[in-house]
Amino acid sequence: MVRWGGVGLGLACLMAGPGMAAETKLDLMPWPASLTVSDGRLIVDAGFKVAVTGHADPRVDRAVARFAERLRRQTGYMLASPRIEDVANAGLEVHCEGPADALPSLRMDETYTLEIAPAEAKLKATTPFGVLRGLETFLQLVAWGEDGFFVPTVVIKDRPRFPWRGLLLDSGRHFMPIEVVERTLDGMAAVKMNVLHWHLTDDQGFRIESKRFPKLHEMGSDGAYYTQDQARAIIAYAADRGIRVVPEFDMPGHTTSWLVGHPELGTGPGPYELQRRWGVFEPVLDPSREEVYQFLDGFLGEMATLFPDPYLHVGGDEVEGKPWERSPEISAFKQAHGLKSNHDFEVYFITRVSKIVTGHGKKMMGWDEVLHPDLPRTTILHSWRGPKALGQAVRMGFEGLLSYGYYLDLIFSAATHYAQDPLDKETAALGEAEKARILGGEACMWSEFVSPETIDSRIWPRAAAVAERLWSPADVRDVDDMYRRLEATSRHLAYIGITHRSSYRPMLERLAGPGPLPEALVDLADIVEPLKEYNRPQTMVYTSLTPLNRLVDAARPESDVARRFSRRVDRYLAGPNATDRDALRADLQGWREIKTQLGSALEAPPLREIQPLAADVSALAEAGLEALAYLDKKQTAEAAWWERRAAILKRPERPVHALEIAVLPPIRRLMEAARGPSK
Ligand code: ACM
Repeated sequence: MVRWGGVGLGLACLMAGPGMAAETKLDLMPWPASLTVSDGRLIVDAGFKVAVTGHADPRVDRAVARFAERLRRQTGYMLASPRIEDVANAGLEVHCEGPADALPSLRMDETYTLEIAPAEAKLKATTPFGVLRGLETFLQLVAWGEDGFFVPTVVIKDRPRFPWRGLLLDSGRHFMPIEVVERTLDGMAAVKMNVLHWHLTDDQGFRIESKRFPKLHEMGSDGAYYTQDQARAIIAYAADRGIRVVPEFDMPGHTTSWLVGHPELGTGPGPYELQRRWGVFEPVLDPSREEVYQFLDGFLGEMATLFPDPYLHVGGDEVEGKPWERSPEISAFKQAHGLKSNHDFEVYFITRVSKIVTGHGKKMMGWDEVLHPDLPRTTILHSWRGPKALGQAVRMGFEGLLSYGYYLDLIFSAATHYAQDPLDKETAALGEAEKARILGGEACMWSEFVSPETIDSRIWPRAAAVAERLWSPADVRDVDDMYRRLEATSRHLAYIGITHRSSYRPMLERLAGPGPLPEALVDLADIVEPLKEYNRPQTMVYTSLTPLNRLVDAARPESDVARRFSRRVDRYLAGPNATDRDALRADLQGWREIKTQLGSALEAPPLREIQPLAADVSALAEAGLEALAYLDKKQTAEAAWWERRAAILKRPERPVHALEIAVLPPIRRLMEAARGPSK
């Protein structure tokens, strides 16, 4: 028996080596707080039954019904009647000890114990929320072996490190249909995330029905909005999965869509039109006018009733306030109230909004920019610009959340997000009480460059790495093991209905046109990644109507092929060997042929833009092969070779196809090694 968990040991034991039994390479994500694994197995066959005991709660019954459906999908078994009362015949006993509030809440009890023995498994939790988390763990343990499906014998005692583990879904910039929201919630539940931060309004769209002020959604959404009934259904769907829904109504900036129907809230005479472009725009609410607060009182009151969670996010980010400066009335108001800067003016506004929010029985959340000592200490500061604001906020007595480092739209690697911890060097010096005010974090899926078709591949599987950072003990940090489990999690998410894998080939087929999909196009897509950070919008003019159907949209944020190739290059350079050499050579030979194999397919209009990319990849692979040949013969490449080939390493920073070649850095390492030590 091997024991893990607790402080210090972490995953070191898990990585102990190939001698370990196969069961110990568990695919759990997030990794549990404590885990003991032994050699046995509990068989999960077509007769597998679940018994529910203890406190009766319809949420547990529904969770078990979903569990059975998921088990069917994962195994292909037709589990006839998964739920029985007869514990003696059950493969899994689900025991809920006691009740929980009607809705998930910030400090709900999510702890559970899962004990799996060869004859039966027992899941025990204090509340239905713990049951939900434990059922997901069980499903992640189901594996295929010689005797069919099984779960390994384990004892897991699990609880989250942080109480707030969220995902921001931006339905404002690109509207996301209900089925996208639902499957996103399914994915979140699978990795034990517990807050959907629903960004419902922005310059490009006002996405929630207001019965009090219907011009908001009618004129501000192009007809793409959620009705209040739909929002209630989503809240119930989320609650059933132990997920809170926190709505965001971003103000006073990011409000163009409000002003289309209600220009009187703004600073200018209007009319306003929905923004079609991406960026930070001028239109802004006018904090000097009482009518604006009356309106907000009405609107936020309506939303406070619709959304039951105690927290309400009012944004507050990215306000430049240029229109405020152009208005003599506003300047006079600022002067009369001793408000020296636009930031002072925004704080004045947010402080008043905070009173409105509090008046409706809610606690306010806002982005970095709203931080001010005058706000009630129930306010949650949501840090996006850096961990510094988070430290500042908790020192001032606020609670805080981190999203800096968790922006999925920036197309960084899972490892990058994984390395970001809400408690890092910025917050290391904090006292215990201050640290306790750091509630967790949220991955953010801003939606400028995602559509309902592509959003899953931008959220998943990388958000699972953030989910683990926020759930698992701080010492669970082994990046290689994270990637091993992320791959399994990615497959698992596909069974749940997340489309991040299933959308890939159809998107490539659409690009290639009729006929069999050229495998060279798949090979190419497999080794490229969309430009990172905010580089893509600088390659051409994008609007909210620009189709997101190009190679850059099909390509994954993080190339698994490139990561594996890169690892192999490092291993080969550390100790040249024939196995790695041959594998590297095979990859490079394949990539060298991409341009030739695609041939006239690159003449098709949707693929024309990638002609230079295909040529670059082929040339780069050729250079890599030459480097490998030098290294294999233990020769140093002559200077002329490097001079001839180095140009291929310098790709345009913002090519129109908006892609980067993810295998370039490891090929560069091969070339530099072949070149020998620089003079
Ligand atoms: C933000 O990214 N402006 C919160």
